[in-house]
Amino acid sequence: MSTAPLDLAQRFGTPLYVYDLALVRRQARALRAALPYEPLQLLYAIKANPCPAVVKVLIDEGFGIDAVSPGEVAMALRCGCPAERVLYTENNATDDDLQAALEVGVLVTCGSLDRLRRLGELGGREAAVRINPDVGAAEHAHTLTAGPLTKFGIHHSQTAAIASIEADTGIRVIGAHMHIGSNVLEADKFVAAMEVILGVAKELKHLRFIDFGGGLGVPYREDQAALDLSTLGAQAESLMRSFCAGYGRKLELRLEPGRFLVAESGQLLTSVAAVKTNPDGRCFVGTDTGFNHLIRPCMYGSYHPIANLSSTAAPKVVDVVGNVCESGDVFARDRAIAEPKLGDVLAIGFAGAYGMSMASTYNLRPLPAEVVVDGDTVAVARQRKTTDDLIAQWEW
Ligand code: LLP
Repeated sequence: MSTAPLDLAQRFGTPLYVYDLALVRRQARALRAALPYEPLQLLYAIKANPCPAVVKVLIDEGFGIDAVSPGEVAMALRCGCPAERVLYTENNATDDDLQAALEVGVLVTCGSLDRLRRLGELGGREAAVRINPDVGAAEHAHTLTAGPLTKFGIHHSQTAAIASIEADTGIRVIGAHMHIGSNVLEADKFVAAMEVILGVAKELKHLRFIDFGGGLGVPYREDQAALDLSTLGAQAESLMRSFCAGYGRKLELRLEPGRFLVAESGQLLTSVAAVKTNPDGRCFVGTDTGFNHLIRPCMYGSYHPIANLSSTAAPKVVDVVGNVCESGDVFARDRAIAEPKLGDVLAIGFAGAYGMSMASTYNLRPLPAEVVVDGDTVAVARQRKTTDDLIAQWEW
């Protein structure tokens, strides 16, 4: 059976997300190979792509799961991740959310002193804490998760209160965590934040692990340099080694990337539904998908490579746009691609992270279907729903 994207588009229809599991494995192994420090526990930030086939590959590769909601915790467990390898990095969790995590035996990383105290009062015996190192880095302000404007984490200058919460409630803080932002391509940005976290960590007496978070970037643009993984791995190793020497105990190192593992594995296949050229020459290539299915270009101005799988025609500079009734529904402006014609299939690349996981049914369009390719096998991961399915969600 063909696994060629064009054949998959014909067989399953468009819009269609396709994930190549071999690329997920490749990324998982590249990351592990670049991290010489032991003990090491890698976690997958499941928010990037919770498709079970993808998640299971990473669990088989030895990854735990970083989850940010009770739903993600449930998905991680359902995919077969043992509870002790699931970390719930809470953000403004309700008491019910915390209680649910305690019931399934999942460690919670608390993002505020308030939530740490409450977890202790609810009977939590162990927790991790997320520290805001005030040093952030990201592709876009919306994906910056450290610094003065972020809602995340306990400010690094306010960690003295952790010890009194431990004393008052009996909870023990066994992990120090940071996550500075997303799609970071410079290793030194991580290193600056790691130094702040380790400065705070030495005041915490019961640590078993340090979690440097996710955020590892990938080169979406053809001319972008990849993150220097070996420099990052070597720096993390040397920082951890000297920290542990002073701390008096060897601690586990954790990282929890999402995008790095799955972005490149995914493509969103879409058909050209309309082509229009304005009097000024601007050519709009309209597709059968939109920001409801891949919001990154509209939300963060993100670049995704786009190829015309159906054509070897000479490149033409066009705007690739969606079918959502909003003018921000643009995948690319002034992009040179083989001249698109009606019915051609376009592949929007690097769509495996934060693509389907952020998709919605805005404009009452069903979600794309999802298929996974593994070597020469193809499996449907999620069936396409119909308009009737959407409408049936309301009480009639
Ligand atoms: N850990 C925590 C606590 C996080 O909040 C995140 C992502 C990660 C790990 C994984 O980050 P990654 O390695 O994937 O960068 N929707 C945005 C990205 C938002 C990331 C939110 N947190 C995008 O499409 O670029």
